[in-house]
Amino acid sequence: MGEVIRFLLDGEVQEVRGANPTTTLLEHLRGPLRRTGTKEGCAEGDCGSCTVLVGEAESANGEGGVAWRAVNACIQFLPMLHGKALITVESLAKDGALHPVQEAMVDKHGSQCGFCTPGIVMSLYGRAIGAKGADGPVGEVLAGNLCRCTGYGPIIDVAKTLAAETAPMADLSMVRDETMLALSFQDEIHGVVREWFSPRTVDELAEVYMAHPDATIVAGATDVGLWVTKQRRPMPALISVSEVAELRTLEETSQALRIGAGVRYVDAIAAVAKLYPDLGAMMRRLGSAQVRNSGTIGGNIANGSPIGDMPPALIAAGATLVLRRGETRRESPLEAFFLDYGKQDRRPGEFVEAVVVPKPAAGRIFKVFKLSKRFDQDISAVCGAFSIAVEDGVVTDARIAFGGMAGTPRRAPGCEAALVGQPWTEPTVETAMAALDADYAPMSDMRASAAYRALAARNMLRKVFLETTMPGVTTRVIPESAHG
Ligand code: FAD
Ligand code: FES
Ligand code: FES
Repeated sequence: MGEVIRFLLDGEVQEVRGANPTTTLLEHLRGPLRRTGTKEGCAEGDCGSCTVLVGEAESANGEGGVAWRAVNACIQFLPMLHGKALITVESLAKDGALHPVQEAMVDKHGSQCGFCTPGIVMSLYGRAIGAKGADGPVGEVLAGNLCRCTGYGPIIDVAKTLAAETAPMADLSMVRDETMLALSFQDEIHGVVREWFSPRTVDELAEVYMAHPDATIVAGATDVGLWVTKQRRPMPALISVSEVAELRTLEETSQALRIGAGVRYVDAIAAVAKLYPDLGAMMRRLGSAQVRNSGTIGGNIANGSPIGDMPPALIAAGATLVLRRGETRRESPLEAFFLDYGKQDRRPGEFVEAVVVPKPAAGRIFKVFKLSKRFDQDISAVCGAFSIAVEDGVVTDARIAFGGMAGTPRRAPGCEAALVGQPWTEPTVETAMAALDADYAPMSDMRASAAYRALAARNMLRKVFLETTMPGVTTRVIPESAHG
């Protein structure tokens, strides 16, 4: 086992010895590397002022070249950079000349106090070089970059100017593919202050987790990172699942889509959207580009938050979870995984290997509604998911699940029972809406009051009915017809 973290910065190999594994990339940049252009705004992945680009080999054999992603350096642990390449805002200007993205920010008055500017420049630079998850509308690309003073108009003008630019945007001589690949084949790394394990295969992961069942598993660290930066939670040992090739695969069969627990949102959206367009659209609102570039569906499930967005939709879709402990695998319906608030059906040494999402039956209604105070980059107050089969005007099956309505993501048995066997009509829907009151006793918190949550849940079912019976009715900020 090595004890050195190696990564490329502007084409040069950086070596870090003896690092505390929960040192963040941002701390390392602003501390030892003196790259203070990358700012700390919130230290919790919200504001984007710490945005940097991380490049990694697309595949273990090097085919596919280097893929870049904008990430929040404040919630990336330094060992996560091992074998990868890094671009910071200092990498862009060459020989005293600003990069075109930076020039455009100056020309269009896109910066005032400037604190958010380096992060915005990095997100726009990512867009200019075709980084992952940066090909959507500019609002989607910049949703994770908050500016407190300029206003977004000039910044969006910058993006439009750049989109029209034909000159090459990037000098990627700062990445040497062959060096990066050589780095990525380094042995497992291992911090000296506390333990950091980085297994390469799922068998190794099973073995190391059985040997260290008290270790914290870390995937994208978009939840775990905050336990360190905000809660100062001690973590005696960490096991990274990011380098486990088998967990990073998506497999489509005639029956289902199998999503490895380590697949990041950015890599799953297209495949999910093909089967469940509404879920794909919701995923594009989950966190920000930076969060989707790091965070995994496996992490969202394993975290067990009552307001995680994927579980309600996956439960409604009838997904099953594949769990592994040592040599033993078991599968269970996803809904059975969430036992109680903060308690999941996971034994010591057991980890999430994959989630298997069945393909929808033809003609089945499937809708997901995420209700949050802000449209983008916000945690849900209520997330409702509906999978309903209607044959000859009669409901033959219903799977309905909500997040934000109980201590766990949970199905709505009373509501489902009120629908099945009944005509798909307004009176049926009114009865099923009322049944939701017995299914859930939501709480009041800073996101919403209990009464608001209950009303919102009822109205989500009404919305399903309106959308399926009144073609063209306006019910959404972004219409369903725009789902790509
Ligand atoms: P990590 O942070 O690495 O891990 C999360 C948990 O899962 C930990 O308990 C970890 O031990 C465990 N874990 C991870 N992988 C495995 C595995 N294979 N087996 C067993 N345990 C495992 N979430 C939403 O649902 N909706 C949002 O809109 C949203 N917005 C966010 C915005 C911001 C700014 C941030 C910082 C987070 C947001 N989140 C949101 C939360 C977070 O991004 C998601 O929960 C994400 O899916 C977590 O994935 P991860 O890979 O980063 O998990
Ligand atoms: Fe705000 Fe990192 S400092 S996202
Ligand atoms: Fe001041 Fe964006 S220019 S926060």
